[in-house]
Amino acid sequence: MARSALLNVMVQAAMKAGRKLSRDFGEVESLQVSVKGPGDFVTNADKEAEKIIYQELSKARPEIGFLMEEGGVIKGKDPQNRWIVDPVDGTTNFMHSIPIFGISIALEREGQIVAGVVYNPAMDELYTAEKGKGAFMNDRRLRVANRKEMLESVFTTGIPHLGRPAHKDFLEQQRKVMLNSAGIRRFGAASLDLCYVAAGRVDGFWETGLQPWDMAAGIIMVREAGGYVTDLDDGHDMFGTTTIIAGNETIRKKLLATLKA
Ligand code: IPD
Ligand code: CA
Ligand code: CA
Repeated sequence: MARSALLNVMVQAAMKAGRKLSRDFGEVESLQVSVKGPGDFVTNADKEAEKIIYQELSKARPEIGFLMEEGGVIKGKDPQNRWIVDPVDGTTNFMHSIPIFGISIALEREGQIVAGVVYNPAMDELYTAEKGKGAFMNDRRLRVANRKEMLESVFTTGIPHLGRPAHKDFLEQQRKVMLNSAGIRRFGAASLDLCYVAAGRVDGFWETGLQPWDMAAGIIMVREAGGYVTDLDDGHDMFGTTTIIAGNETIRKKLLATLKA
């Protein structure tokens, strides 16, 4: 698997932040039992990871700007490219010592995602994809699952937490998918949900209320693994609509029809 120079830079940044987050993850376990809990510590870990990623990427490509969960928009001189970064996707898991969280870095070029990296340091799973070059987990090439029937398929989704709208809509969506599938999972990190679709671990994924940094890297992972990604209106405005649905093309269509029924 030959990685481009840009993808290498992204991998280096994710791995460096990952080493730091791994150490912090160990610390979180002991903080669970403290009176204060790990809240502030996790907020800091998140910010520090983002700083590492920002420093690594801007050292290698100073002209490229950023869209980051914590730091927001940082304009770059290059009008075509921008990095889209979520330093810890799956913060609730991280805070509860659940080893399902990821560092997500994508490169967007003229509105298209052209490269993505998602790294789960707790499981040492590195997902990478580049436009036209396939998707990989560590060194293994990824393919989406080939199931064609809803009743045989397992889906992953996100449950809107307290303070978010759309609880009623979600319960309705869940009811429909429960009745028409082999099961629903909630892993708690949208970037990894998409990687799990790419890896064929689950057959499809849908969620509403997501931000670009939750989905950007995962979108190219699914596409490069032979899958399809759209928004819940069957269009390609995932960032604008904040919605997403993914799977092999047959299952994506059937899941969408189920959700809309
Ligand atoms: C969250 C995760 C989660 C999704 C939420 C996101 P965060 O990101 O991706 O799976 O359901 O909507 O906000 O806050 O852990 O970076
Ligand atoms: Ca996120
Ligand atoms: Ca985050």
